[in-house]
Amino acid sequence: MSNSVRIIEMGPRDGLQNEKAPVSVEARIAFVEALVAAGLSTVEVGAFVSPKAIPQMAGSDQVLRGVSHVKDTEFHVLVPNEKGYDAARAAGAEVVSVFAAASEGFSRANINCSVAESIERFKPVLTRAKADGVKVRGYISCVLGCPFDGEIKPKAVADLARTLWDLGCYEISLGDTIGVGTPLKAKQMLRAVAAEVATDKLAMHFHDTYGQALANLYAGMEEGVRVIDSAAGGLGGCPYAPGATGNVATEDVVYLLEGMGIRTGVDMTKLLAATNEVSRLIGRPPVSRVASALNAKTRAAK
Ligand code: HMG
Ligand code: MG
Repeated sequence: MSNSVRIIEMGPRDGLQNEKAPVSVEARIAFVEALVAAGLSTVEVGAFVSPKAIPQMAGSDQVLRGVSHVKDTEFHVLVPNEKGYDAARAAGAEVVSVFAAASEGFSRANINCSVAESIERFKPVLTRAKADGVKVRGYISCVLGCPFDGEIKPKAVADLARTLWDLGCYEISLGDTIGVGTPLKAKQMLRAVAAEVATDKLAMHFHDTYGQALANLYAGMEEGVRVIDSAAGGLGGCPYAPGATGNVATEDVVYLLEGMGIRTGVDMTKLLAATNEVSRLIGRPPVSRVASALNAKTRAAK
């Protein structure tokens, strides 16, 4: 396997968007800064969506303005439509992510429109982004199963990936939103998508509901995918994906990669400190196995 993997840190967005306890703008900025200091230079920091739908992401403009835009950092934000794009740009966004779904049921629940309508909403965003020199990432949700429509055919994912690619997305992030995938299914899906969009333009965004995310990531790496979305502490979940838990934990991904001899540039001690601080704020311990193990070790040494 090639010796480089890019991690896109999701904690401040996917991680916090489903938390009951409100986390202040100041604390979200501090969380982002702590993640960057730990070596996670690409961080999704917020979402320009309806604050009625996702109150947790209100103030994303302040978060984006508040974080230090130092060299080599890249901050991503979600935008569902032109309104979100306008707000994101006004706050200085240079990378935005549009998000579609491989299933009609999830598209309707999440963004209140059909898949085809969502593409129509994205078209002006992509046209304007191109003119503005803004990079656009494209998500596809429910690539390995949908909470409403059930099984998803790899071809449906592949066709949508092609559409987003043709519209001008620079990378397609494939979301196992409800974490139901298993390694062979993940491989089949990735092979189907790779027939439409080059493997080096794909990212894996796997939630860990059924504890399969690391195995699925490993399977995807065997297929050649080298970009991984993960969230500190395994935070996260989508409010419109009933029962789904967080993203695969960044600590667990870093431990896996380093164990394979793949350098991540992430300082585990600093990452753990960032995770522990946000866990304190939301009032529950990290679900990451690595964070639990390291915290137990620290307690035992005291
Ligand atoms: P809608 O109701 O169809 O939109 O919502 P609308 O155009 O009819 O507008 C309704 C209201 O929303 C209006 O306000 C608009 O101004 C406002 P009102 O007149 O009622 O006061 N509005 C907005 N406000 C702020 N920013 C905007 C915006 N657009 C409209 N951009 C909409 C459509 C998409 C806006 C809504 O359904 C929404 O915000 N949904 C939230 C979706 C979301 O954030 N989901 C979670 C993130 S996706 C995810 O987690 C999956 C992912 O991680 C990958 C994976 O795991 O699979 C990415
Ligand atoms: Mg997600």
